Amino acid sequence: MYRYDHHDHQIIQERIAQFRDQVRRRQADELTEEEFLPLRLQNGLYYQRHAYMLRVAVPYGMLSSAQMRTFAHIARKYDRGYGHFTTRQNIQYNWINLEDTPDILEQLAQVEMHAIQTSGNCMRNITSDEFAGVAADEIIDPRAYAEILRQWTTFHPEFAYLPRKFKIAINGSKEDRAAIAVHDIGLTVIHNQAGEVGFRVMVGGGMGRTPILGSVICEFLPWQHVMTYLEAILRIYNQHGRRDNKYKARIKILVKAIGADVFRAQVEAEWADIKGGPATLTEAELQRVASFFSTPDYLPLTSTDAAYEQALKDNKAFANWVKRNVKAHKQPGYAAVVLSLKKPGVPPGDATAEQMDFIADLADRYSFGELRVTHEQNLVLADVRLAELFAVWQEAKAHGLATPNIGLLTDMICCPGGDFCSLANAKSIPIALDITDRFSDLDYLHDIGEIELNMSGCINACGHHHVGHIGILGVDKDGSEWYQVSIGGAQGNAAAIGKIIGPSFSAGQMPEVIERLIKVYLRERQENERFIDTAQRLGVAPFKEFVYATPIKTTEHYGEDAGSLVSY
Ligand code: HEM
Ligand code: SF4
Repeated sequence: MYRYDHHDHQIIQERIAQFRDQVRRRQADELTEEEFLPLRLQNGLYYQRHAYMLRVAVPYGMLSSAQMRTFAHIARKYDRGYGHFTTRQNIQYNWINLEDTPDILEQLAQVEMHAIQTSGNCMRNITSDEFAGVAADEIIDPRAYAEILRQWTTFHPEFAYLPRKFKIAINGSKEDRAAIAVHDIGLTVIHNQAGEVGFRVMVGGGMGRTPILGSVICEFLPWQHVMTYLEAILRIYNQHGRRDNKYKARIKILVKAIGADVFRAQVEAEWADIKGGPATLTEAELQRVASFFSTPDYLPLTSTDAAYEQALKDNKAFANWVKRNVKAHKQPGYAAVVLSLKKPGVPPGDATAEQMDFIADLADRYSFGELRVTHEQNLVLADVRLAELFAVWQEAKAHGLATPNIGLLTDMICCPGGDFCSLANAKSIPIALDITDRFSDLDYLHDIGEIELNMSGCINACGHHHVGHIGILGVDKDGSEWYQVSIGGAQGNAAAIGKIIGPSFSAGQMPEVIERLIKVYLRERQENERFIDTAQRLGVAPFKEFVYATPIKTTEHYGEDAGSLVSY
């Protein structure tokens, strides 16, 4: 884990003191709400449907057990006993009192965390592969670069007021697990033919109302130049990005308007002036930062473990969990465990204070005291010994964290939607719960196999619906809530934007609609074909035909008050 140096500590403390005074002035009516708004947003504090919402950054998804315990404490003391992990590797608290926020930020600072740059038109929290440093298919560990970029983006004076928010993701494995194609900048750490380390640079990806996949503008950027090159990209964006229309302000619109080649040429011209300048990264600085991410004290183990192999044979439930929730590790005798935050009856991504404390405890006992947040809204213990997987499974199961559904239909990405978010057109949590109910049979789920269902309550696409194999989007029709369905979207190496299948559905119809889509897939699939392969092979037509062929009956669903119903 990276540790703050005195600069980090100082700037965070100064910011807290400043914000404490701003809150005081707001409460004393010395500041109007209008004046206070930009100040609170700069500290991750939104006002949502019912209350203040605080968004805390988890840089590139890495957490220590102490940080997780602080999250639990905040949930218990200042919220309603739970927190919501998001697709941007952040945590959000939905029920915060304004007057508590300076104290909350103070407590976060004690464990080297903050809520700065989780809002506003600046460079936001850097996201990365949740298996960084341990993935069996890793080319280069991206974490040192992610941390260097975190430092570079923190309070970057030139880029504090960009045309719009700016999101950077970084991945260092063969498989893209950071959704780099739908980020403003997507970086992949690679080797060139000479074996040197550098980045493949993509720009102009994003979701929202105009989903666009990023374009590669540099096939190989030597690592020393990452900050100057990114600086050149941001300068071109800062200069030419649209400021007249919020909906056309993201870099994706600029890159699309002028074309990736023209954009690249502009970046190269800008870069020529700063290339090799003071922001060029040195070997010494890279090594200094990389030393924080050095390999933990792994035991010298063999790649199998007899007791573990036996447990796999003896216990089908354990074997199912291992198949879905346990991932290959580059170190012999170790594995990475995904703790599922997708339990029936619980909003995707939510964890209670009790669960967070327990997870911190698991991390201390089984995984060198470290945790990761995934952009699919789950948590990861990255370094578990094979010999201890059975014990971890039993303990996680007892705390509702071992649903064996990672990568399956009920492992949905879902934004908070209408239950919490004031921008929503429709609720999303109750739909997620309804679908989870309909697909509660684990054998059926496992038979359907890998599928990603992503859902957003409005076109802002916080729930990544555009890149879901099945995507659900909440839409407003004459003041009532409807759901538009798309299929064929994908994240990862073969990223694609889904295609809408036709007119939208009511909330009560949604479980049946998903059931029908799955039926078409089960009927049409060829050997080993995942839903996405079948959907991309056949296109929308057969799915559309079957879904709309007969009237879809409306079923009872979690209904009007799902937010409070399920919010612990
Ligand atoms: C409840 C408070 C939230 C508000 C007010 C909010 C607001 C927004 C807005 C306005 C956009 C569109 C930005 C644009 O296209 O320029 C957006 C996009 C996004 N948000 Fe949220 N959001 C919220 C919660 C979340 C949550 C809970 C997640 C994760 C589960 C999330 C992750 C994202 C992502 C991934 C995008 C898409 C980024 C892109 O277009 O490239 N947000 N959000
Ligand atoms: S997609 Fe819309 S409803 Fe969902 S969290 Fe984002 S802004 Fe809110």
